[in-house]
Amino acid sequence: MINALRGMKDLMFEDAGRYEYIVETASRLAKNYGFEYIETPILEETPLFMRSVGESSDIVGKEMYRFRDKGDNDVCMRPEGTAGVVRAFIQAKLDRQQGRKYRFFYFGPMFRYERPQKGRLRQFHQFGVESFGESAPEEDFTLISLLADIFDELGIRYRIAVNSLGCGECMPRYRKDIEERLRSVSDSLCEDCVRRIDTNPIRVFDCKNEKCASTLKDLPRIGDSLCERCEENFSKVRSLLETTGMDYFVDRDLVRGLDYYSGTAFEFISDEIGAQSSIAGGGRYDRLIGYLGGRETPGVGFALGMERIMELVEPPREERKGIYMGVMVREALERSLALASEARKIGRVVTEYEPKGLKAHLKGADRAGARYAAIIGEDELSRGEIWVRDLSQKSEESIPFDSFVDRLLR
Ligand code: HAM
Repeated sequence: MINALRGMKDLMFEDAGRYEYIVETASRLAKNYGFEYIETPILEETPLFMRSVGESSDIVGKEMYRFRDKGDNDVCMRPEGTAGVVRAFIQAKLDRQQGRKYRFFYFGPMFRYERPQKGRLRQFHQFGVESFGESAPEEDFTLISLLADIFDELGIRYRIAVNSLGCGECMPRYRKDIEERLRSVSDSLCEDCVRRIDTNPIRVFDCKNEKCASTLKDLPRIGDSLCERCEENFSKVRSLLETTGMDYFVDRDLVRGLDYYSGTAFEFISDEIGAQSSIAGGGRYDRLIGYLGGRETPGVGFALGMERIMELVEPPREERKGIYMGVMVREALERSLALASEARKIGRVVTEYEPKGLKAHLKGADRAGARYAAIIGEDELSRGEIWVRDLSQKSEESIPFDSFVDRLLR
């Protein structure tokens, strides 16, 4: 028997229902906020991710599904959605439309070769949004509100962590300072953190190692060295959250695992799903579009982890829906199928081709989740009628063929 790969899952029945419910809810709310649907390829050229997610990140360093295709192109299954959407934005020359705002949402599979565990898969799904062309910190707040609206509507409890990662002006200054300080304590840091001193020193604050945490405890954080503009923007975001009554906390160690961020960063955390508790994350990336060859354009976005959220939602129970159609004699099948095609223009119809007794059909209708069982037997066929049982109301009637669709579905 061939099984699915480790860390990859099939989605069916209740899980598929949960997935659809989250996508529908999140898409509807994103549209209310002015976002439009975008779909980008799953496979992209590897350098796109190396230059955006960043070579110092764990994702690019260890987790990429990377291979050469038959044309010897170095390609990669997307580990996240932002890079592809930014590439599409630049490729469509939308970065040349100075002053215009573009807002996109997307959902679909992402691939990271991580060690699978609860809440961590190798193929997982995200719902994400990206906003281009708006530098105002109000947009950061609006995206946090959208995420909160999505989780509120899904009935999910969360905590909001925010931080500012500094801009092209204050971040390099801080980075230089922290690099020196880290070098002087490198004997007490884990191997990963020692490596990070050269590649991306602020990532050390993300380390879960206790010895590292105690070594780093008194070192300054990026938040202590923000320039005036970053300080102002971050305080604007916080005050908007406060005036709108949204609970949040500042996490000085929130650095995000992808290299493209600058300015506001945020994460939504659930205390109900174990160690992999980040249910969504995002932030500003004002330098990314320029860095990928586009005209400098501010950007901000987020993505939520579908699998982690699927553990937390219970979609509303589906009502019985549509019609189950069956026959008791083979001669009635053509008529049954003709009526089914007509009815399908309006509603849901499940057909059974095998002639069966009434009891077997009623069981079939129940399994199909249908509201009505519509059965044609020998007598019905000769009278030009169809026998219908309403499984919700527990009532029965016979309906002439020509008024059947109107009677049940309109
Ligand atoms: P991220 O924090 O890497 O950000 O991922 C966002 C969310 O995806 C996480 O909060 C988590 O819920 C989920 N996730 C990540 N890895 C896994 C995994 N292996 N298994 C299951 N769920 C996972 C990004 O990907 C950015 N592109 C977000 C963004 C958009 N920033 C700006 N725009």
